[in-house]
Amino acid sequence: MTKTLRSIVRGTGSSLPAQVVTNQDLERRVDTSDEWIQQRTGIRQRHIAAKEETTVSLGEAAARNALAQAGMTPDDIDLIIVATATPDNTFPASAVHIQQRLGITRGFAFDMQAVCSGFVYALTTADLYLRSGMARRALVIGAETFSRLMDWTDRTTCVLFGDGAGALVLEAVEAAEPDSRGVLVSKLRSDGAHSEKLYVDGGPSTTGTVGHLRMEGREVFKHAVGMITDVVYDSLGALSMTADDVDWFVPHQANRRIIDASAKKLGIDPDKVVVTVDRHGNTSAASIPLALDTAVRDGRIKADDIVLLEAMGGGFTWGAVIVRW
Ligand code: UT7
Repeated sequence: MTKTLRSIVRGTGSSLPAQVVTNQDLERRVDTSDEWIQQRTGIRQRHIAAKEETTVSLGEAAARNALAQAGMTPDDIDLIIVATATPDNTFPASAVHIQQRLGITRGFAFDMQAVCSGFVYALTTADLYLRSGMARRALVIGAETFSRLMDWTDRTTCVLFGDGAGALVLEAVEAAEPDSRGVLVSKLRSDGAHSEKLYVDGGPSTTGTVGHLRMEGREVFKHAVGMITDVVYDSLGALSMTADDVDWFVPHQANRRIIDASAKKLGIDPDKVVVTVDRHGNTSAASIPLALDTAVRDGRIKADDIVLLEAMGGGFTWGAVIVRW
């Protein structure tokens, strides 16, 4: 039988800023309440980076944890992709900063920008590089400091987001069977017609400033469940699978209500849904790898499990990936 290359997950890691900000803490900053935030979003707390904690430092720490779990050293890595909308600098990429901090001098590293869908885009991209033979072992990192983009006087956004980073180590291996472990399918989508529903009102080429996140939350919410379930059905269909085949659903963690409604529409049992939004808030591109690392380390996700990932966010961008762990 012809052997094909497959990208297998070898390790996961994560890193969260030390400072925890509760809903009660936010009650003292803006006109909000713990009850409103919990009811509308499921969020109880989020981690917020201190000045010296950056996207690069969080991403580096997550990468080191993932390498340790994989039993690898930085020398084993020849590709780094960092999904982030909050890089330390406009350039060079946060990925090359992390490459340098890990002491890696071979291979290549770059950032990807697809906001909350960033990790799904980065994982898909890394999988393509590995299966093409251009790289052997990749670090796929989602790292964000969204607190730096917040308008801390805007209660409609500042209560929703948090900071953090998660990472996966992927390795290309020869697979003889079509259902071997590894990334099985990816589906990506975008539609720029929705760009004004969730955006940052600044940038190097326009205002010359970083800007603040602006969102028509209700409008994003309205589209989220339909877009998510659509791309998940496409992904399952490509594998001739149904929702019953999914062992773990690890969605982007934006809002508990979106997660629950998506799982319900897909017919996925609530016990199979990994939820971290209560503790992390929405950490954009970091939310999926943070949730994955949580569920791997607490023993839920195990080898050979079918793991369904999905995300939807600014752009709009959305997508899904199915992995046999
Ligand atoms: O990760 C990227 C994708 N992003 C998302 O998926 C976010 C999607 N959207 C959402 O999660 C929800 O739309 C929100 C959580 C942002 C908002 O929930 P909602 O149920 O859609 O509330 P709403 O925007 O319709 O606002 C309801 C009310 C409004 O007051 P009025 O107009 O009814 O008097 C808001 O002004 O809640 C008010 N409100 C707040 N009240 C207390 C808005 N923010 C707050 C707040 N505290 N923080």
